[in-house]
Amino acid sequence: MIAALDRPLSTVLRDCTAIAHSHSEKSPFMSCLTSGALNSAAVADYTAQLWFIYVVLEDGVREHSAGSRLGVFADSRLERVQALEQDLLGLIGPRWRDCVLPGRGTLAYVAHLRRLAEVGDETGLIAHHYVRYLGDLSGGQVLARVLRERYRIGPDGLNFYDFSRIGSRECYRSDYRCRLDLLELDEVDLSWLVSSANEAFEFTRGVLGDLAERHCVFSNRI
Ligand code: HEM
Repeated sequence: MIAALDRPLSTVLRDCTAIAHSHSEKSPFMSCLTSGALNSAAVADYTAQLWFIYVVLEDGVREHSAGSRLGVFADSRLERVQALEQDLLGLIGPRWRDCVLPGRGTLAYVAHLRRLAEVGDETGLIAHHYVRYLGDLSGGQVLARVLRERYRIGPDGLNFYDFSRIGSRECYRSDYRCRLDLLELDEVDLSWLVSSANEAFEFTRGVLGDLAERHCVFSNRI
């Protein structure tokens, strides 16, 4: 039976992940990064962790993009791997592949995404898709400004944040929310979607926790 909701699903998802979002946003690494306290090595490391994650996320989404549920969200214009590779080239140089290593949190996140793809869990993949891409289209744009203004990163290191191929970010976000609202989920899938989105934030905290340990002075793991 389709779950009866008192609010649109996109609102439920945003409300139910608001605390987790706030923890990520205020995490020591994000706080250090946005205050301009870090250096370009930290920016390169953060970019590299994103690369490890998006390679697996985008493989999984492409593999299941014919699925009736995930297919509604899969959009090659969102894909970030190529942009991240350009950024790593710009931030580190041509031998960047020899210089990047996934942290423990990144390895855990990537293993989880691989499992979702292996079992064809479209609902789980939608949750991670939502947390990553809607985040990139929202707060990600705040980060792009910080990197440009505080770290003097040029366009060759900021391709990840460039979504010009999708047109207006605002329209895309609102259309994405409509697509969420049209999903027909039963109670079990609804609860899995919400818990998977919170899990995506939890994995992100692991990634950010490692980055804080490596780059923030006086950091505590979150
Ligand atoms: C300094 C770090 C961050 C800042 C400043 C920030 C800021 C924001 C802002 C301003 C919005 C727009 C809210 C709205 O339109 O109502 C947003 C939305 C969002 N952010 Fe973040 N964010 C940060 C980190 C993150 C991280 C690390 C993630 C997850 C990986 C994330 C995921 C999201 C998601 C999924 C949304 C969309 C919520 C929705 O409208 O459904 N954010 N963020």
